[in-house]
Amino acid sequence: MTLQGPKMLTSVPGPKAKALLEEKKAYTSDCITIGAPTIVERGEGALMEDVDGNVFLDFVGGIGVLNIGYSNPEVVKAVQDQAAKFFHTAYNVVLYKGYIDLCEKIAEILPGPSKKKVMLINAGTEAIENAVKIARLATGKSGVICFEGAFHGRTYMALSLTSKVKYKHGLGPFMPGVTRIPYPYCYRCPYGLKQESCNLHCAERLNDMFKVLIDPDDTAAMVIECLQGEGGFIPAPEGYLKRVHEILKEHNILLIVDEIQSGFCRTGKWFCHEHYGIEPDIVTMAKSLAGGMPLSAVAAKADIFDKMYAGSVGGTYAGNPLSCAAALKVIEIFERDDYPAKSRHIGEVCRARFEAWQKEFPERIGDVRGLGGMIGIEFVKDSKTKEPDGAAVAAIKNEALQNGLILLDAGVNGNIIRILVPLCISDEHLATGLDIMEAAVKKVLK
Ligand SMILES: Cc1ncc(COP(=O)(O)O)c(C=O)c1O
Repeated sequence: MTLQGPKMLTSVPGPKAKALLEEKKAYTSDCITIGAPTIVERGEGALMEDVDGNVFLDFVGGIGVLNIGYSNPEVVKAVQDQAAKFFHTAYNVVLYKGYIDLCEKIAEILPGPSKKKVMLINAGTEAIENAVKIARLATGKSGVICFEGAFHGRTYMALSLTSKVKYKHGLGPFMPGVTRIPYPYCYRCPYGLKQESCNLHCAERLNDMFKVLIDPDDTAAMVIECLQGEGGFIPAPEGYLKRVHEILKEHNILLIVDEIQSGFCRTGKWFCHEHYGIEPDIVTMAKSLAGGMPLSAVAAKADIFDKMYAGSVGGTYAGNPLSCAAALKVIEIFERDDYPAKSRHIGEVCRARFEAWQKEFPERIGDVRGLGGMIGIEFVKDSKTKEPDGAAVAAIKNEALQNGLILLDAGVNGNIIRILVPLCISDEHLATGLDIMEAAVKKVLK
């Protein structure tokens, strides 16, 4: 596949895509929303070709699913080989080696001294559901602490933990026992403090909350993204997770770390929580785990996991053999080709460009932040008021799309551009994508 950008063959959507989008309108509800108004034909690495022959650079990677890239030939072969043997048995009827091998591999790559046990399911949201079940059975308590800005999925427990009203409006009532607290968003500190002098007030505040807001004796777990994804690409400050975990341990409350978007090399390490020197009690993962095949996993310290009883977890398609085959190959390639290093390199290249734009537009680019290749830019109308500028991001996204680059926003106000580019991208393609993005940023911010 050859990159044409920054010029497309046709404007986007082209005639074939336009016709298909009309058909979509007739047969699916408008609630099935789409980000980029086109229709894919095939993908390769970080490139995507649409039905009109336009070739795009994809900086979104299926929302963090394609760290391995589109159509990696080794992964394709692994799935084809498995498909030729069997598609499905239901693991709880007849188990297969791929399920066992993958659980073993995930337990092995998770850092920390404790022995881990692993279960496989299908989607990120299902991993969250099961993580909460595990925490409840292990602690004998029910309450869950979550965060403002969080995104954990769309099934009812996960949706109850998710923060964005846009995804929840009219869908209540939600699960009882959920308490939402402010996320440590240093650019917009919920306590109005400065990071240099705050002494991690946000972490210490948890002790006060246990007196006025949350009964720790009723609380099973806290669920956190170490680097909030949908919420705006916000890394927790250094030291926060360590201190919070200490406080939680004093109350027998488990720490569930949601690595669904941030895991599998995205942040320059296998898992984002490695940046914080903690060993979570439970970890949820999905997305780039199987490179686009539907698969998610929950890992927990063995003594915690072993509190589950037969029948308390399951699912017909859980740990599908094709998905397991894909995941085993994806992990093998990540290890062999050092994908964490690729992510760090992408992060450095992007950060240098983004910080240069910030210097040029100090009033409009409020913050550049992230870890490794999970990096975002926050756009504001004015650097003093920090009023979010979602309109600028929408305009940048559209301008980039018309020139062959797919971008995605984040944050409740849609004013952050998040980079989730496939980690296999070449330097040349990365530079081309950043050139397209730079032209769009300059055109919109002027
Ligand atoms: C951090 C996080 N948790 C959970 C989910 C839900 O995953 P899924 O869409 O596979 O249900 C997502 C999806 O974007 C996510 O980013």
